Amino acid sequence: TEETLVLVKPDGVARGLTGAILARIEAKGYALVDIRLVEPERATLEQHYAEHEGKPFYEPLLEFMLSGPSVAIRLAGNRVIEGFRSLAGTTDPTTAAPGTIRGDFGRDWGLAVQQNLVHGSDSPESAARELAIWF
Ligand code: GTP
Ligand code: MG
Repeated sequence: TEETLVLVKPDGVARGLTGAILARIEAKGYALVDIRLVEPERATLEQHYAEHEGKPFYEPLLEFMLSGPSVAIRLAGNRVIEGFRSLAGTTDPTTAAPGTIRGDFGRDWGLAVQQNLVHGSDSPESAARELAIWF
């Protein structure tokens, strides 16, 4: 089996979509190993998003992630890294496929950062690194 880090980002929590997102994850058959509401420090987010430092959306992304609590989830299952990213849909919520979390619940709000409701680790290496940061 495999584990991944899922975050319901501040927009998802603020909009009351945590339950709807969890329902999709559970319906798919993945196992919730650990889950908690987190108000991260800036340093935690700098670690988490280190790969994006210097990009134009980096500062807006950090500010957005500091705007309210997120729900951090340790999620388990065979091929869960790939499977959750498929459930989430592509990064841009405007064009994410309907049927995905981002495609069904997300849109462009005209802000400097794409608010796209969820995060999912993109590789086994990222998952191990990110789970150690958040749990
Ligand atoms: P995560 O699961 O959150 O990591 O999303 P991702 O892997 O689909 O995207 P990526 O890691 O490339 O970017 C991290 C986050 O930065 C995204 O989820 C968006 O919130 C934001 N972001 C990424 N690319 C862009 C972009 O081109 N423009 C803007 N405005 N925001 C972006
Ligand atoms: Mg990513």
